[in-house]
Amino acid sequence: MKIRHRDIVLITGAHGFLGQHVLRTFLDETHCDLIVTARDEKLLFDDVADEPQVLAYQKLDVTERNEVKEAIALYKPDVIVHCAGLVDVDRCEHDRELAWKTNVRSVEHIIEAARKTDARMVHISSDYVFDGTRTPYAENAVPSPLNYYGRTKLASENALRSSGVNHCILRGAFFYGVEVHRKPSFAINVIKALTRNETFEAFTDLYAPPTLVDDIALAVIRAVEYKKNGIYHIAGPEMISRYEFAKRIATAFHLNPELVIPIPFVASETRADRPRHSSFVTLKAQTELGLRITGIDEGLQVMLRGIHDMEDERQIVYQ
Ligand SMILES: NC(=O)c1ccc[n+]([C@@H]2O[C@H](COP(=O)([O-])OP(=O)(O)OC[C@H]3O[C@@H](n4cnc5c(N)ncnc54)[C@H](OP(=O)(O)O)[C@@H]3O)[C@@H](O)[C@H]2O)c1
Repeated sequence: MKIRHRDIVLITGAHGFLGQHVLRTFLDETHCDLIVTARDEKLLFDDVADEPQVLAYQKLDVTERNEVKEAIALYKPDVIVHCAGLVDVDRCEHDRELAWKTNVRSVEHIIEAARKTDARMVHISSDYVFDGTRTPYAENAVPSPLNYYGRTKLASENALRSSGVNHCILRGAFFYGVEVHRKPSFAINVIKALTRNETFEAFTDLYAPPTLVDDIALAVIRAVEYKKNGIYHIAGPEMISRYEFAKRIATAFHLNPELVIPIPFVASETRADRPRHSSFVTLKAQTELGLRITGIDEGLQVMLRGIHDMEDERQIVYQ
């Protein structure tokens, strides 16, 4: 049964990996009215454009203060769900100005506009605010980012925490799932390479908790529904290496796991350092948001079914 309340929710970065799942989950699970925004001229998903819940699509570059101000003043959303961001960790390390503008200034612009309309904000942060030496991390652990991406995510959290705006910060980790995407994620890259019978190199010593993106999207909806404030950790229940994860993907998708080649992670000029071990205590999200966190094998089956369901209809970047 759909959630009954009818907030107006503005979603940023709705064409991104998480953004598209957040959009679809709001449509499936709620009666909320939606203002869908991304930085493209048009909404990319034709099947969503005609949904009565979608009040408007608005081209919005979140680094542009005036665009953010005008959109929020025009639509007066009750809630802003901020899914836009620069997530490429190596790019953030080398283009620090862009990383700061996209991940921190955007939040400052939203805060400024949200104060005027009394909007709440749901923000997405990352396990990369931690250095990975004291895992698993609870919400009150002290952050200590290893790379510039992590520093921008922490700075965005701090901006919100001192803003006076009602907000909820959902920290996520290593998403996987179905996507219609221009920049395929780790799991899709594994599937693409192995489907073509190509090898795929994966790190044996970077451990993270693969997290079904649907779980994060549902956490967003719950945070909106329950009007939650504060920080919540959401991550898959198993911390495994990327190498192991790639092999599990191969098995689930009936591809050849022998094509996954183990390599060590080495930080370099072109590759930013990363936490070697990352995992979260998720009890707070499970109890307060009522989340059931999906295990890897179940999550990969969800992904497999999702890809089969959508393959013909949408241009999934898969082959
Ligand atoms: N993916 C993960 O494993 C992961 C883990 C933990 C936390 N997170 C957090 O989750 C959030 C969403 O990440 P994601 O995985 O969905 O990344 P994503 O697929 O790269 O989506 C980010 C979206 O933001 C858009 N964007 C970038 N700059 C923008 C701008 N100036 N104005 C408007 N939109 C802009 C991108 O558009 P373009 O496509 O045009 O660049 C993209 O559609 C981020 O805050 C990220 O830090 C992600």
